[in-house]
Amino acid sequence: MELNVLKDMFIQEYGEGEVEVYFSPGRVNLIGEHIDYNGGYVFPGALTIGIYGMVREREDNIIRLRSKNANGEIIVNLQEDIRYDEKDDWGNYPKGVIKKIKELGYNVNGLDILFYSNLPDGAGLSSSAAIEVLTAYILLHKNKGDDVDRVEIAKMCQEVENKFVGVNCGIMDQFAVALGRENNAILLDCASLYYEYVPFDLKDASLVIMNTNKRRELSESKYNERRAECDKALEIIRTHREVENLCQADVKDLDYIEDEVIKKRARHAITENIRVKDAVRVLREGDIEAFSKLLIESHKSLKDDYEVTGLHLDTIVEEALKVKGCLGARMTGAGFGGCAIAVVKNEVVDEFIKEVSKNYKEKTGIEAAFYVSKIGDGVKYMGRC
Ligand code: GLA
Repeated sequence: MELNVLKDMFIQEYGEGEVEVYFSPGRVNLIGEHIDYNGGYVFPGALTIGIYGMVREREDNIIRLRSKNANGEIIVNLQEDIRYDEKDDWGNYPKGVIKKIKELGYNVNGLDILFYSNLPDGAGLSSSAAIEVLTAYILLHKNKGDDVDRVEIAKMCQEVENKFVGVNCGIMDQFAVALGRENNAILLDCASLYYEYVPFDLKDASLVIMNTNKRRELSESKYNERRAECDKALEIIRTHREVENLCQADVKDLDYIEDEVIKKRARHAITENIRVKDAVRVLREGDIEAFSKLLIESHKSLKDDYEVTGLHLDTIVEEALKVKGCLGARMTGAGFGGCAIAVVKNEVVDEFIKEVSKNYKEKTGIEAAFYVSKIGDGVKYMGRC
């Protein structure tokens, strides 16, 4: 988006004067789902859509938060204790980050901030990680300029989401949003936080994000349930041999687990982690068909073993795979609604969208949305205007 359009938005809200503009992307995970909290490898990338943050300094100790996408305003008094407040809704994410950065001893001064998001709402493309990382970057950029430590940002934002907002997520989303790089996916070892950039080149195919437009119901409680099931699996395996995390276990360790449900959950985690490594290898070799097949296997495992897909995600993936020229598809993110991705030959993308859209609507009654997606940069300062 153009800087002057963003500046005009800000001026409408807060009046004339100079404005600084920042951008934080959403993320898409290519493969490695429900793996971050099990200590394995994930393979996400940052999107080119996300949340813009327009900022102007104030003379007092107040941070005003407004969003172009929601009504109302949240006032944060920097001299008072900052607390989670249900009625502040989305504002709790930036509030938590402001509190954390103050606690770390950084200078935090009065600001007027306006957020504007072009991420689809509730679609599982990590708008919460985007607003957290954006707020952290704005405040730290004001202290250190471009010299901010992005891994530290990812870690602190995950902590805010876990402890201040109360959502028990892993590190993947915040990491992808903070460290994304244009045209590259990030291979991240969630146990050590070692990471590598891998060029994301699908040759004559495109990455299509398919939004089921089914809101993610019960996602939080089911998410926590899955985490607990994985902890249980790890506990059982550990009574037989020493492993640091579930992804370090082998498929043969599954024999130790008697409970069928716990065994299925563990099987997903162990096999998905292997698929990530395979997917990165074949992508590096330029074998897009093999990469896409692994996406299909990933979806199957998330459906049958991890049970986080549901009617809408399964239908959109099935319909996608019926179209000639679609090489692979899977759900992405936490599941229970939200988005799926597909690898589609460039020459059939338009037809693909038409077909899947029609058939998905017929089967579910819901209009899906499609975005031909590029992999973009992580959070950044766009300039002063
Ligand atoms: C959500 C969480 C992530 C990760 C994914 C599933 O997006 O925020 O930490 O666990 O689900 O891969």
